This record gives sequence, structure tokens and C-alpha cells, in this order.
Amino acid sequence: MPDSFDVIIIGSGPGGYVCAIRAAQLGLKVAVVEKRATYGGTCLNIGCIPSKALLHASELFDEAGHGFAGMGIEVPPPKLDLAKMLAFKDQGVKGNVDGVAFLLKKNKVDTFHGTGTILGAGKVGVTLANGDKQRLETKSIVIATGSDVARLPGVTIDEVSIVSSTGALSLPKVPKRMLVVGAGVIGLELGSVWRRLGSEVMVVEFLDRILPGMDADVAKTVQRILMKQGMSFQLASKVTGVAKTSSGQKIAIEPAAGGAATTVEADIVLVAIGRVPFTEGLGLETAGVQLDNRKRVVVDAHFQTNVPGIYAIGDVIAGPMLAHKAEDEGMAVAEILGGQAGHVNHDVIPNVIYTFPEVASVGKSEEDLKAAGIAYNVGKFPFTANGRAKVNKTTEGSVKILADAKTDRILGVHIIGAAASEMIAEAAVIMEFGGSAEDLARTCHAHPTLTEAVKEAALAVDKRAIHM
Ligand code: FAD
Ligand code: NAI
Repeated sequence: MPDSFDVIIIGSGPGGYVCAIRAAQLGLKVAVVEKRATYGGTCLNIGCIPSKALLHASELFDEAGHGFAGMGIEVPPPKLDLAKMLAFKDQGVKGNVDGVAFLLKKNKVDTFHGTGTILGAGKVGVTLANGDKQRLETKSIVIATGSDVARLPGVTIDEVSIVSSTGALSLPKVPKRMLVVGAGVIGLELGSVWRRLGSEVMVVEFLDRILPGMDADVAKTVQRILMKQGMSFQLASKVTGVAKTSSGQKIAIEPAAGGAATTVEADIVLVAIGRVPFTEGLGLETAGVQLDNRKRVVVDAHFQTNVPGIYAIGDVIAGPMLAHKAEDEGMAVAEILGGQAGHVNHDVIPNVIYTFPEVASVGKSEEDLKAAGIAYNVGKFPFTANGRAKVNKTTEGSVKILADAKTDRILGVHIIGAAASEMIAEAAVIMEFGGSAEDLARTCHAHPTLTEAVKEAALAVDKRAIHM
């Protein structure tokens, strides 16, 4: 008799493991199948967590070299021990993946280490690492297999000199010159890490702007700030080939619209042109599960695929490829399977880029609102006018609030600034409650905090900011 479950989740990333825990909390008999040696998926092993560890450590390295003396802290110029910094990152990853293993055990989730294949509704095969095969039965299946690196045609990622984010998180030596393909989130975050540690970083972007999808005015400001930090950008350009030479990589770059190629040299090329849903080996064709034209699993409003009993969440379905989006979808599916009304509000999903300063947004950009023909008011407040930012000397950036011109309801919030990743939470909460700029403006904010800039931006929507 094969083992039998209420739900089997394939993949233990933020979508899968959160789904498993919530389903177990609701009394379901749950199993997770994971092909990687450790739990936590892309995010914990090779994504959010290791990248944030290196961003944190490299930011302090930079600060020690440039910011301490101004505060009267005299230290010798900092020396980099890269192996130790990478070990610091690995310890952080271990702490997090061990934490997930503990939580799965605590919630009595059965775990199987191997590649999961859907053999049909209610049937999952697992190929264990040693090649043994196991068959499991279940009432429901949740596909939470995440995403993989998008490849650039003609450029082979070897994770040594031509790397994806995975290789860029473990370079054994600081490259003298790094060329980043793609001015998206990974390019700017990991480009920042290596720039702070001493690399010359050049970013080549296909479009005529960085951070597509982000409010254009915000993206422009971010580019200016990063250029001041020493990163260079070549926009409206495409990499058409990389040739290995004795002195490094020779990269051919053409205008996006076509034209003569130029070449530049770099020691490391980081390919960061997006991620693609991962469904390889899952047996979706046999199971009859429908994919869209971008190979994403198609689901309905309840995360169910076209095959009854088979659900999908996270990076493998449409929507932003973000860990917290995957987590919330995991929770929602578990609640639906547990007989509750699970739901995710996809209009209020914060998005953060962990550069310095950080960039955080939630809701609509000005371009979105213009395209939808919605009249809006803008309230903007710069950190140069915020007491805490002034005293900390972190005055770069601002808070921008977009509110409906008729109802004053907040439709979008965009923050560039130190700790923007933390500040965006209050914007998400007020938007979940359908709050107005006036509600935010009348909420008492502690002094002196950076969050006072959020309140001031809300006051600025009605042109009554105090400190400006
Ligand atoms: P994943 O985390 O990709 O997990 C899927 C799991 O399924 C994997 O463990 C995989 O091994 C397993 N799997 C796949 N197929 C099978 C199979 N057939 N059988 C068994 N197991 C299988 N997002 C943020 O919100 N914030 C960040 O700061 C952030 N930083 C990032 C930095 C980098 C460098 C990268 C690459 C991504 C980052 N992301 C970040 C994105 C985030 O990692 C993903 O959105 C998130 O991991 C998606 O979760 P998921 O559960 O859908 O899939
Ligand atoms: P991305 O989609 O953010 O950016 C890719 C960039 O590459 C875009 O600007 C695109 O126009 C450009 N591009 C595409 N093809 C190109 C080409 N041939 N030549 C030059 N430029 C090209 O993808 P990225 O940075 O790889 O990240 C993948 C995903 O991981 C993101 O969707 C994001 O959701 C997630 N992520 C989230 C983080 C966070 O939340 N802080 C951090 C890192 C990743």
C-alpha cells in the first residue's frame, strides 16, 4: 500500500513549506517532496537570504571605509576577508534552512527527498537520490516548484566566469571588472555587492531604463544614485556574445534596435535577465496540466489548475516572482484545502530592492494610473527634510504617495531611502484597509524616525507638509 495523504506539496520553497505548515495546522495529513538536499527553495538557499547576507556585510564594509571617520570613529581602512564573508553568508543560509526543517518536523509534515512527478490526479511518484522510486497517494497535489535562471541565447552559464545569481553569490575572488546583463533586481543588488567590495561594475540593459515595471521617476532616481556610487549603465543595448580570452571575457554589445557591435572586457559576466517557471520532470503533460505561453502553470482564482485536485502557487504561476507572494499563496491554498476561504490580494504586494538606499513600492506606479485613466494626487517628501535621516546622514531618497484624486484612497506608495524595506509595511497595511492619505496623515508617527517622512508625504498629498 503506498503512503496516503490529504495533500502532497512538490517543492519546499517559501510557497511550499508555508503551505505545508498551514495545512498541518488545519489538521491535514501533509507531505512535502523536495529534490534539493535542504529545504527553503531558491529563496533560502540561493536567493533572498544569501543575497541579503552579502548586501548587509558589504554595506558595512563600505560604511567602515567611508562613513565612520565622519562620525569620529577612527579605524584603519577595512580589509576584506572574502572567504569569511562567504562563510558568514553560508551560516545565515544554514540557520534558515535548518529552521524550516525544524518547523516541518514540529508540524508533523512527512518529508521525501527526491524528484516528484505527478502520475495523475492523486498520484505522485518520487525518485529518491539513490534512484529508488516511491509512489504516494493523496487527495490534493500542490505544485510549488518555483523558477530557474533565464538563459541568454549563445551565452553558456558555467558559474565560474559566466555566472547566474547562484555563482555570483559565491565568487572566490573579487573580480576587477564585472559586467552585468540586465538592470533588474538581481543585477542591481548583486552588482552593488561586488561594487562595494571593489569591482568595477557595468550594467547592460535591453530597455532604455532600469527596473522595468517600477515607477519611472523612482527608477531614474535609483539609476542616478547608483551611478554616483560608481556603477555604470549602458541602456538600450543587448549582449550578443561572450568570448573567453586569456585576459578575461570579451563581450559583444549591440544597440537593442540593431547596429554595429562594440566589445568590452570583463573578468566575470553576471547574467541576470529574469527567471522562468520550473516544471521540468514534473510530468505535467501526462497529467494534462495546462501551461500558458510563458510556460507558467495556469490556475483559477482558487489556485486550482485545469485538473481538479491539482493546485499551483509561487514562481511557477503568474505574478511577481517574490517569496512573500509565494508564501501568501501557499497559505491561501492550505486554507482552501482546509475548508476555509483562502485569498491573496495581488494588488497589495510590496516589492523591495535591497540596494543602498533601499527601494520599496506597493500598489500602482504613476504610469499604471495614467494608463488606466485614473486621476491622482501626488504627495512627495524628501529625506533631506527628515530629522532622523539628516542626523544619520542618510538623506538620499524620498517617499511618494499616489492617492485617488476623487476619494483620497492610497493607490501606490514608492520609497527610496534607508530602511525603505521596513517602512513599506505601513503602506501595505493602510492599503489593505482601503485607507486614505488623510488617514495616514492623521496617524501619529514616532519622532525622530524615518517613518515621519511617510506621514509628511501623506500630508503633502493635500499640500500641507510641515517640514518642507
Ligand atoms: P522556490 O523557492 O524556487 O522553491 C521551489 C522548490 O521546488 C526548490 O527547492 C526546488 O528544488 C523544488 N523542486 C522543483 N521541482 C521539483 C520536483 N520535481 N520535485 C521535488 N522538488 C522540486 N524574493 C523576495 O521576495 N525577496 C528577495 O529579497 C529575493 N531575493 C532573491 C535573490 C535572488 C538571487 C533570487 C534568485 C531570487 C530572489 N527572490 C527574492 C525571489 C524568490 O527567491 C522566489 O520568488 C521564491 O523563492 C519563490 O518561491 P517558490 O516557493 O515559488 O519556489
Ligand atoms: P528582472 O526581471 O528583475 O530583470 C531582468 C532585466 O533584464 C530587465 O530589466 C530586462 O529588461 C533585462 N533584460 C532581459 N533580457 C535582456 C537582454 N538580452 N539583454 C539585456 N537586458 C535584458 O530579473 P532578475 O533581476 O534576473 O530577477 C529575477 C526575479 O527574481 C525577479 O523577477 C525578482 O522578482 C526576483 N528577485 C527579487 C528580489 C527582491 O525582491 N529583492 C531580489 C532578486 C530577485
